[in-house]
Formats: sequence, structure tokens, C-alpha cells
Amino acid sequence: DIANPAGLPSDDVAYVDGVVESNVRTKGPVFFRGLTDYGRLLELCLALRPEQIIDRIIESKLRGRGGAGFSTGLKWQLCRTAVSDDKYIICNADEGEPGTFKDRVLLTRSPKKVFMGMIIAARAIGSRNGILYLRWEYIYLKDYLERQLQELRDEGLLGARIGGQSGFDFDIRIQMGAGAYICGDESALIESCEGKRGTPRVKPPFPVQEGYLGKPTCVNNVETFAAAARIMEEGPNWFRALGTPESTGTRLLSVAGDCSRPGIYEVEWGVTLNEVLTTVGARDARAVQISGPSGQCVSVAEDGERRMAYEDISCNGAFTIFNTERDLLEIVKDFMQFFVDESCGICVPCRVGNIDLHKKVELVIAGKACQKDLDDVVSWGALVKKTSRCGLGATSPNPILTTLDKFPEIYTKRLRKQKKEALLLSFDLDA
Ligand code: NAI
Ligand code: SF4
Repeated sequence: DIANPAGLPSDDVAYVDGVVESNVRTKGPVFFRGLTDYGRLLELCLALRPEQIIDRIIESKLRGRGGAGFSTGLKWQLCRTAVSDDKYIICNADEGEPGTFKDRVLLTRSPKKVFMGMIIAARAIGSRNGILYLRWEYIYLKDYLERQLQELRDEGLLGARIGGQSGFDFDIRIQMGAGAYICGDESALIESCEGKRGTPRVKPPFPVQEGYLGKPTCVNNVETFAAAARIMEEGPNWFRALGTPESTGTRLLSVAGDCSRPGIYEVEWGVTLNEVLTTVGARDARAVQISGPSGQCVSVAEDGERRMAYEDISCNGAFTIFNTERDLLEIVKDFMQFFVDESCGICVPCRVGNIDLHKKVELVIAGKACQKDLDDVVSWGALVKKTSRCGLGATSPNPILTTLDKFPEIYTKRLRKQKKEALLLSFDLDA
């Protein structure tokens, strides 16, 4: 039942003229088609040596779909060669970036594709234990996903002696997330899995060297595991033929904001911004927030013909459209508040800098800022990015820095004319 397989709350299903319609708007080649014979896929993989599985993933040029785009095959290889007889597979389903909801839909519509990807990874690296770290807000999916796992066990695809092969034991447990954005950072996620506060670790060592319980751990995004399963089914050449040379395959986009057809779209990497906007029915689009607040705000007028690809505009899946009626500065202010709220607070530049940057945006909105405030924003933003421990601090100034770059007028038109007076006022407020 593609319409509502998990008995989802109504916000996951669109009702059009009284008919239930999935919010999966496109039936792309990788994720929502193919792969129903999981036993056959397992047979294919068991016929290969673990190194051959890794070779195929490397040949496909699959890159991590969490956003950073690290080579999946290389990650699996590093984890395989790490010396330990205890290794872990973690599926990062702590989808917390505002504007992204693709993993939720993938786990709802095609959970077994994701689990098959984890089983294949386990075979490749030599792991007996997997964890699905599920965003706390998706708790309503837990029972449904437990049933899917049980079905795989009943079919002999999960548990002891998988596929009847002695020595291939692997099972998956579901761990609920901690309800914090920072737990989507893989090392904070690992801390959380260990029952600790979700604080990012200093990297290196990377999780493939020292991860869960100090053991080599392969952490991949939900979409990455599903793509790996499809690659093993169809072959690396099929996957590589999709997309661009450096961004192979397809990408799930979570499209939201000012358009008439929001939802999940599977697009080939290399599609232009304008092509996506036309497909989703976006009129009067002025800006697109790519990859959520941690990503970049691009201008439709200036960047419309640019391509979604690691070579050009990379994307973690969030695609949020703002039309000409939106006040971009109010959006920037809300994004900065998000980072203030979600910072774990362990590094000073991130803990303090985000608050100061948020204050500066408020100053601009109030018409009380001057050029010096904008100069401060640029230098403080660079400092926060450079000196923070994890990805949150390394990207939190982006809402301001990327809008300053693409839409400087939204700031400059609100600056005070009398520079001296504004400087004094800014000094008072900062105090
Ligand atoms: P990163 O570049 O530090 O690492 C990416 C992956 O490659 C990690 O798994 C890391 O362990 C691995 N890696 C990198 N260098 C390695 C090496 N030398 N040896 C072994 N493994 C190595 O990026 P990070 O901080 O993990 O992720 C940042 C991305 O996450 C951003 O693109 C951002 O857009 C995205 N993001 C996604 C969210 C979502 O909800 N999907 C939420 C927040 C951020
Ligand atoms: Fe915590 Fe921010 Fe430092 Fe990341 S950058 S470890 S979120 S304080």
C-alpha cells in the first residue's frame, strides 16, 4: 500500500480532491522503483567476497547523502581494514536539518531498501551489530520499522546465519534519538548511542577508526544505504550513468516553501535550479535555501542556471523556496535563533558567537545597525566557522554570510544613515 503504509499522521500524506496521494511526487529510478526481491539481492551479495562488494560501491562513485559527500566505498574500505573483531554499522536517521524530510519518507515507503543497505555494509566491513538511530520526532514510525525488521528476520535476511551462511550474523536495533539537532553530527550521535550527552567529539580519530564504544564504526545516511542496495542490485555502471561525473546517481530533494507542489522529488544530480523550480510549480521565487540553514541561500535571478551537484551547488536534500514577498532578514533571524538554541555550548566561538550574530541581525531589522556592524558580522562569522569543533559551528554563520553575499541590499537598505550615532547605539546594545 504505497498510499499510507505505516498509518502515518495526516501531515505525511497529501489529500487531493478527497483522494489520498503520497507526498512522493516523482517515482525516480533509484528509490521508489525496483528492488522487491530482497532474497535475490542477498544471494547476489553472498556470491561476492566482501572486498568485491566494496569495489562495486567504489566504482559506482556513490557519495554520502548526509550532505558532506564523502566516498561511501572508501568509508567502507577504511572500516573494513581497521583492526578489530568488533565493528558497527550505524544508520543516521536523525534528520534534523530544517527543511529536510526525505529520510522520513524513505523509511516510510522503502524501509527494507535501507535495511538491505545496512546488511550489505555489514557483510562488506565484517560487522555483527547495526543501529538505526531514529530521530526522536519520528517515534511514531518505530513500531512499523520494528515490524519490518522482524519480517527480514523471519525471511532469514537478518539475525544469525544470514542467507544460511555460517559466520554471517548481523542484527539491527533501533535507538531513539535525543531530540537534539546536534545528535545528527555523527560523533555526537555515537555519544548519544553510548548513553551520554550528545556532544561532538574532536575528529580525527574518525568513527571508522574509533566510533561506537571505541570500535570501528561506519555511519551512513538513510539515503546512502538505500542507494547502496540499489547499486548492488543493478550494478555500478547503471548508477554511474545517472547524474554527473563527480555526482553520480540521483538525489532525493525535500521541496518546501513557496511552490504549489511541495514534497519529495528524486532528481538526477546535475539538474538546474530553474528546472527544479519549474517542476515544483514555484512562481516568483526569489531565493532558495539549499541544504537548510547550514547550507547556502542562493539567488534565483543569479544562480537559476547553476547545477545541483557536488561540482557546483551541493545539497543535503533540503530545498526551501522563498518568493519575492518574504522578508529574508526575518528568515535569517529565525535561522540564527535555531543555531543559538541547538549549539551544544562546548566551544566558546559557537556558544557566544551565534548569540552575537543573532543580535546583529536584530539590530539591522530594527534599523539601528551601521556599516561597522556588517563588517563585524563578516569577521565574527569567519571566526566562528574556523574555530568551532563541529559542523554546527562551521556552518551556523551561513544564513547571514550567504544572504549578505547574494542579497546585500536587504542589509544595506536598513542601515542608519548617521554613522557616528549608529556606532554609539551599537556599542550600547552590545554592552
Ligand atoms: P565531514 O566532512 O566531517 O565528514 C563526512 C563523513 O566522512 C563522515 O562520516 C566522516 O567520518 C567521514 N570522513 C571525513 N574525512 C575522513 C577521513 N579522513 N577518514 C575517514 N572518514 C572520514 O562532514 P560532517 O560534519 O560529518 O557532515 C557535514 C554535513 O552534514 C554538511 O554537508 C551538512 O549539510 C550536513 N547536515 C545534514 C543534516 C541532515 O539533517 N541531513 C543536518 C546537519 C548537517
Ligand atoms: Fe558544540 Fe557548537 Fe562546538 Fe559543535 S561547534 S561542538 S555545536 S559548541
